[in-house]
Amino acid sequence: MTVSVLMCPPTHFTVSYRINPWMRPEQPTDAALALAQWRNLHAAYRDLGFDVALIDPLPGLPDMVYAANGGTVIDGIALTARFRHAERAAEGPAYGAWFGSAGLDVREAVHVNEGEGDLLAVGDTIYAGTGFRTDPRAHDEAARVFGREVVGLRLIDPRYYHLDTAFAVLDPAGGPGSVAYLPSAFDDAAQEVLRFRFPDAVIVSEPDAAVLGLNCFSDGRTVVHAPQAEKFAAELAERGFGTVGIDTSELRRGGGGIKCATLEIRR
Ligand code: ARG
Repeated sequence: MTVSVLMCPPTHFTVSYRINPWMRPEQPTDAALALAQWRNLHAAYRDLGFDVALIDPLPGLPDMVYAANGGTVIDGIALTARFRHAERAAEGPAYGAWFGSAGLDVREAVHVNEGEGDLLAVGDTIYAGTGFRTDPRAHDEAARVFGREVVGLRLIDPRYYHLDTAFAVLDPAGGPGSVAYLPSAFDDAAQEVLRFRFPDAVIVSEPDAAVLGLNCFSDGRTVVHAPQAEKFAAELAERGFGTVGIDTSELRRGGGGIKCATLEIRR
């Protein structure tokens, strides 16, 4: 089955406000480098045979490049995003309009949720982050909208404010070793859930997480990842995954990486 993703070119990308610890508005970003790195990611997805759609970037929304936050799309149903911070609020309707034009069944979110930044499908279950951005009430909302089990996971380290910065889906089909994560990013209860549900998970080291190594994208066979996460990449290869390193260091200055720039469209 062809993987479909939505991306947003970093035309207006910059760091002009600070809503996570990675963002330093006083340090200028390199627009040309951000675009070149984003293009490499786009090309890698095309090479893997993905169907890549693009949404028009809007001026004044420098974080719109992080398409993963634009919503959650499963079984042709698109739950819109509702952002925690005013700076990103207008991205919700912008992505919502794209979902409508793409013929998806659009459901307007009531509670704050930051899309696939915090809502990640593994098998038939949705793992849902909270603590910094997504409201726990949005977990129940997602369960109703998608008719799936939603398992909440509380994040406790401000550097790992979205689930997709601390938890990676390696095999969307699920299974005991289908994910990777950084245990210290989660509270004790969440760590216990993760140990129980994924006894063979890849446990990622702090240095590999600190280059946003967990913010990778996998189709179940090949993992596109930050090349700086060297131990993680070696472990993936050992487990039989193909690995493609794509450097998105410039996007990391906004607090995002490969997965953040990628929204999966599941019809
Ligand atoms: N600057 C953005 C924010 O703080 C980065 C979002 C990264 N996206 C992600 N899926 N983790 O909201």
